[in-house]
Amino acid sequence: MTLLEVTDLAVEFDTAEGAVRAVKGIDFTVERGRTLGIVGESGSGKSVTSLAVMGLHRGAEVTGSVRFDGTELIGAPEETVRRLRGRRIAMVFQDALTALHPYFTIGDQIAETYREHHGGSRKTAWARAVEVLGDVGIPGPARRAGEYPHQFSGGMRQRAMIALALSCEPDLIIADEPTTALDVTVQAQVLELLTRLQRERGLGLVIITHDLGVIARVADEVLVMYGGSAAEQAPADSLFTAPRHPYTRGLLDSLPRLDAPEGDPLRAIPGSPPSLLAPPPGCAFHPRCPVYAERKSPLCTADRPLLRVVDEGRRSACVLDEVNA
Ligand SMILES: Nc1ncnc2c1ncn2[C@@H]1O[C@H](COP(=O)(O)OP(=O)(O)OP(=O)(O)O)[C@@H](O)[C@H]1O
Ligand code: SF4
Ligand SMILES: [Mg+2]
Repeated sequence: MTLLEVTDLAVEFDTAEGAVRAVKGIDFTVERGRTLGIVGESGSGKSVTSLAVMGLHRGAEVTGSVRFDGTELIGAPEETVRRLRGRRIAMVFQDALTALHPYFTIGDQIAETYREHHGGSRKTAWARAVEVLGDVGIPGPARRAGEYPHQFSGGMRQRAMIALALSCEPDLIIADEPTTALDVTVQAQVLELLTRLQRERGLGLVIITHDLGVIARVADEVLVMYGGSAAEQAPADSLFTAPRHPYTRGLLDSLPRLDAPEGDPLRAIPGSPPSLLAPPPGCAFHPRCPVYAERKSPLCTADRPLLRVVDEGRRSACVLDEVNA
């Protein structure tokens, strides 16, 4: 059975300025032992999507379906969702300092979380905490378990967060920008750790990032989000070798390249992300799209393009894609 199956997920916030449609009907699945990368610029709806999957979308209207191992979570009693959260679905956040409590030792926080879900004695839970700290590569875990978050470096704190997530032996981990706050070397180590654990334990993993470089390292499948919708979905290798959607191509062009001549500037996509209160008509990307700039097709400004199959296992939401046209 598919581990996580998200269908037509939409999230809307009612604000003083009007309805903010942060997520507009997206679909994705995560299988055991696979990694889905969700990528997009700031404000594209990545975090809102993951919070909605976790049932943590305070104050938002959420519609669609989120099936976890066959259980529907949208509209399920709070108790059902709470039982799954932390126990079978764990989350790793960008900022470990705000997610970890400053006044409790790392070991206590992991042990308490473990006991909440598994019960058992304090001693067993503490032993489990030391074990998972060792699993995530923290040297001297028995001693470090007795330390407070501020005594850990940024990279070590992020490892401790992963240990916290792992302590309950979840089936699915959702990691929202897990390495953004880290320097490049530590980032690579933490990503390597996450993917190794994911493979060894056959976990489903969702990695959310604005960095295609991170996706290239870890993802099997990729969901590219733009303005709350899916622009493109594809297996990672084909996305990188032959991106279909103009937005994906723009993201790829803005990746630093090892083979680029020295001094070659990064080409960020010009313009800014669309307003969610008053999105542009038609394709939300059209004000920034180089293909539209050249062809000025009225199709681009008519209706919001639907995600359509463009190749085996690939979907793109561009009306001018030769398959869609
Ligand atoms: N509680 C809220 N009320 C109103 N709008 C919200 C709320 N939470 C999020 N949004 C809006 O939803 C949109 C998507 O936000 P989200 O946090 O998912 O973006 P993101 O893709 O994770 O961006 P980033 O890369 O910056 O983390 C944003 O425009 C944000 O302002
Ligand atoms: S639908 Fe038009 S504007 Fe949108 S990505 Fe395709 S070519 Fe660009
Ligand atoms: Mg976010």
